[in-house]
Amino acid sequence: MLSIASFALIGWAAAALTQRDANISQQNTLDVDVCVIGGGAAGTYAAIKSKELGKSVAVVEQQDRLGGHTKTYVDPASKKVIELGVAEYQDTPIVRAFFARLQVPLYQYNYTTPGVTSEYADFSTGLPATPKQGDLLGAWNAFQVQVAKYPSLFYSLDDVPFPVPADLLLPFGQFITKYELQDAVPYLSLYGEGWGNFVTLPTLLAIKYFSPDFFSPASLSGDGPGALAAKDNSLIYGNATQELGSYALLSSTVISMDRSAADGVTITVQTPSGKKLIRAKKLISAIPPLIDNLNGFDLNNKTEVPIFNKFRGHSWYVGLVNNSGVPDNVTLVNYGTTNTNNFNIPVVPGVYNIYATAVPGIHYFLFAGNDSQPTFTESQVETALQDTLTRLRATGVIPNSSGPVKDLSIIDFTSHSPYELYVPSDQIAKGFYNKLFALQGQRNTYWTGAAFVTQSSTAIWNYTDQLVTKMWSG
Ligand SMILES: Cc1cc2nc3c(=O)[nH]c(=O)nc-3n(C[C@H](O)[C@H](O)[C@H](O)COP(=O)(O)OP(=O)(O)OC[C@H]3O[C@@H](n4cnc5c(N)ncnc54)[C@H](O)[C@@H]3O)c2cc1C
Ligand SMILES: *[C@@H]1O[C@H](CO)[C@@H](O)[C@H](O)[C@H]1NC(C)=O
Ligand SMILES: *[C@@H]1O[C@H](CO)[C@@H](O)[C@H](O)[C@H]1NC(C)=O
Ligand SMILES: *[C@@H]1O[C@H](CO)[C@@H](O)[C@H](O)[C@H]1NC(C)=O
Ligand SMILES: *[C@@H]1O[C@H](CO)[C@@H](O)[C@H](O)[C@H]1NC(C)=O
Ligand SMILES: *[C@@H]1O[C@H](CO)[C@@H](O)[C@H](O)[C@H]1NC(C)=O
Ligand SMILES: *[C@@H]1O[C@H](CO)[C@@H](O)[C@H](O)[C@H]1NC(C)=O
Ligand SMILES: *[C@@H]1O[C@H](CO)[C@@H](O)[C@H](O)[C@H]1NC(C)=O
Ligand SMILES: *[C@@H]1O[C@H](CO)[C@@H](O)[C@H](O)[C@H]1NC(C)=O
Ligand SMILES: *[C@@H]1O[C@H](CO)[C@@H](O)[C@H](O)[C@H]1NC(C)=O
Repeated sequence: MLSIASFALIGWAAAALTQRDANISQQNTLDVDVCVIGGGAAGTYAAIKSKELGKSVAVVEQQDRLGGHTKTYVDPASKKVIELGVAEYQDTPIVRAFFARLQVPLYQYNYTTPGVTSEYADFSTGLPATPKQGDLLGAWNAFQVQVAKYPSLFYSLDDVPFPVPADLLLPFGQFITKYELQDAVPYLSLYGEGWGNFVTLPTLLAIKYFSPDFFSPASLSGDGPGALAAKDNSLIYGNATQELGSYALLSSTVISMDRSAADGVTITVQTPSGKKLIRAKKLISAIPPLIDNLNGFDLNNKTEVPIFNKFRGHSWYVGLVNNSGVPDNVTLVNYGTTNTNNFNIPVVPGVYNIYATAVPGIHYFLFAGNDSQPTFTESQVETALQDTLTRLRATGVIPNSSGPVKDLSIIDFTSHSPYELYVPSDQIAKGFYNKLFALQGQRNTYWTGAAFVTQSSTAIWNYTDQLVTKMWSG
């Protein structure tokens, strides 16, 4: 029932709006059912799902393309594809339906490239390394026994048990030691790349990420089937951009927002062709919800700021390198021989791993910061890569014939920061995630993305599907 008060509120909001946006013409105003901020995996799924439900949608994306952490390099000469971000999806009905909806075929994902061998070395010393040959599968199974105790975590973080079980609050390294999961660490480490020193993170987040939803025994043995990929994972985002047409506002950012009215929100957006005003019934935020990144949002100081200001992010970078001296048939895996307190995971800041690609001459590398030194420039990363390769040449891990490394070139460099948002264990213990999810629907606003689920498109789409369905079901 609409009260006089809420009429007054609408009237006030409309008046404020007319004043503030007096100069935005009718043709620069979009009236839609829902406005989505952020067009990565979560935002694009939310937009297409809303359209499926017959709703009109606008998407505001700061980059010049949709896709977010999905970014694809196509070699100009050979047209061969290298995925710089998201590589694989789990084989679930939601993944298959989403790709079918956007008319992009899926294939079995290939974990290994034929003819490529992985060699281990400690990148901090340059010396070859021999990882301990532990009982990986045994440790993995023991880990899954622990994970299975928390079925509510399987799909999202919206049902974290409260009080939070003590095990979930342990730094992940202590949890590994407690349940003797050490032999699984070299495998987990391959996927912990964007997490900095991942054994220090709360176990809750590690369990959510390393769940059977993302990892499978098939992927453990490296010979699938188990996961899916497109020939080019950016194709769905290209198709979604086409479908949204002028309602995909690329290279655009939020200038201001008004969510005080009972019946809708207004968002003023800076686009390459000037300011636009979006009037929407509902808002979906699908961006990393760090306070600094919620620029332009009319955050409520009492209900929203004290939650979002608890989030911390990691930073990491990936790139393609030419003339590295690493043979085309070699992938180099960084094994931290000196990092004995941390299960021999790679020492960061540093180059994480260097992968062979489908394109001769080009390798893919990952670089991670740590909590005290998170941010790096491209030239700092290039120097670190050069130093790493010089060490690996001096020891003969890679052929030494070409002398000191001086002619490498970075062909592509992408920052994936901020990544893997987390909150410290003491906040989780105080019910952080319960408070976070209690925001859903407040002020006509819904929240999704990796910070609410985990860094997995499959899991994010599952959660977002349910969120959008609930959002319109009254
Ligand atoms: C190198 C790498 C490899 C990965 N591999 C896989 C994989 O194989 N499989 C898998 O499932 N997952 C993988 N992931 C995890 C991946 O992060 C998730 O699958 C998923 O892409 C996260 O989706 P998201 O929508 O939460 O975030 P994003 O994809 O980052 O989307 C957020 C979007 O919001 C935009 N944005 C941010 N802030 C603003 C703002 N203030 N205003 C407007 N727009 C904004 C960003 O530009 C971005 O487009 C990988 C990640 C990386 C970095
Ligand atoms: C609207 O446009 C006028 C004239 O161009 C300008 O003086 C005024 O500052 C603008 N107002 C706003 C709110 O941008
Ligand atoms: C999505 O998650 C729910 C649990 O929240 C699960 O029941 C359902 O099977 C999942 N759907 C798909 C298609 O994976
Ligand atoms: C979607 O992408 C595919 C490539 O996988 C292309 O063949 C098709 O025409 C595209 N469809 C639309 C509607 O853009
Ligand atoms: C993986 O390899 C198989 C067999 O060579 C091939 O049919 C399939 O298309 C490949 N997958 C992708 C995503 O390229
Ligand atoms: C890589 O290829 C070279 C040349 O064909 C060969 O000599 C070498 O043994 C291969 N290395 C690995 C690790 O397969
Ligand atoms: C919220 O807090 C900020 C920073 O302290 C302040 O500038 C702003 O005016 C506050 N907003 C409201 C609505 O109180
Ligand atoms: C890689 O380096 C070689 C040799 O310098 C050069 O011919 C080639 O164009 C480079 N490739 C790219 C993609 O830059
Ligand atoms: C982070 O890296 C810096 C060097 O860049 C190092 O001095 C510091 O000890 C590292 N911190 C942790 C917690 O590893
Ligand atoms: C590699 O070359 C450097 C000089 O560039 C030399 O100092 C080093 O001993 C060589 N290492 C091997 C293993 O040949």
